[in-house]
Amino acid sequence: MKKFRKKLVAGNWKMNKTVADAQKLADGIKDALADCREVDVVLCPPFTALKAVGEVIDATSIKLGAQNMHWEASGAYTGEISGSMLRDLYCHYVILGHSERRSYFGETNDVVNRKVKAALGAKLIPIVCVGETLQERDAGRMQEVVESQLVHSLADLGERLGEIIVAYEPVWAIGTGRTASPEQAQDMHAFIREAVGKLGGVETASKMRLLYGGSMKPDNAVALLAQPDIDGGLIGGAALETRAFVEIVRAAIPKREPGLPAGTVE
Ligand code: 13P
Repeated sequence: MKKFRKKLVAGNWKMNKTVADAQKLADGIKDALADCREVDVVLCPPFTALKAVGEVIDATSIKLGAQNMHWEASGAYTGEISGSMLRDLYCHYVILGHSERRSYFGETNDVVNRKVKAALGAKLIPIVCVGETLQERDAGRMQEVVESQLVHSLADLGERLGEIIVAYEPVWAIGTGRTASPEQAQDMHAFIREAVGKLGGVETASKMRLLYGGSMKPDNAVALLAQPDIDGGLIGGAALETRAFVEIVRAAIPKREPGLPAGTVE
């Protein structure tokens, strides 16, 4: 049976852009991609620019995402933002467990798991990040590390596991210009799909979209996105520039094979 997984390209703008700069970037992306139906495009600006970017992309196929959220719906959590607040701003997605949150803000798998459940409860689609450090890869522990992140961050989701998107972001490739080779990325994506299969069944795993993140640029996107288990990208640096981001999205548009619907993969 051939499986169709529509590619998704998300821009993680991290802690960049004022409201005016964010509007300008979103405007440029909208002009180039408003009618792009072959790829799901998601913009994840900082909280402060969600409303403005949401207004720019309103009535287009481009969707809004946040970079983090709290696991409670409301209450005395100074400085935090809840899932329902994100829905209120028309967010559809939320990035959870990014390695920068794990390493700089002490987010554990347990915290990520609570956030994932809260996001699903708020009708947001979680993009859950996993990935090993260079030290862990050099020690040959990358599969063990990634599997443990998956098992604990995605624990007890039942049927709803099928709603998750996983992003594989090797820490050593983030913001370093050093990308995983297409083979390294494919190997890990295939391993992640297998691990998800153990958690929630082969059918769920075969439908789940797995994104690659870590120095994805226009010049390496084609080779990475051509891998059978890579279903899109989570883009940092290159998402801050209209042309580079648009080129990556275009690289994700499936090439039609004769006799098959666009995007069909083995
Ligand atoms: P870079 O594309 O800048 O390496 O960042 C990747 C990332 O962390 C996306 O979440």
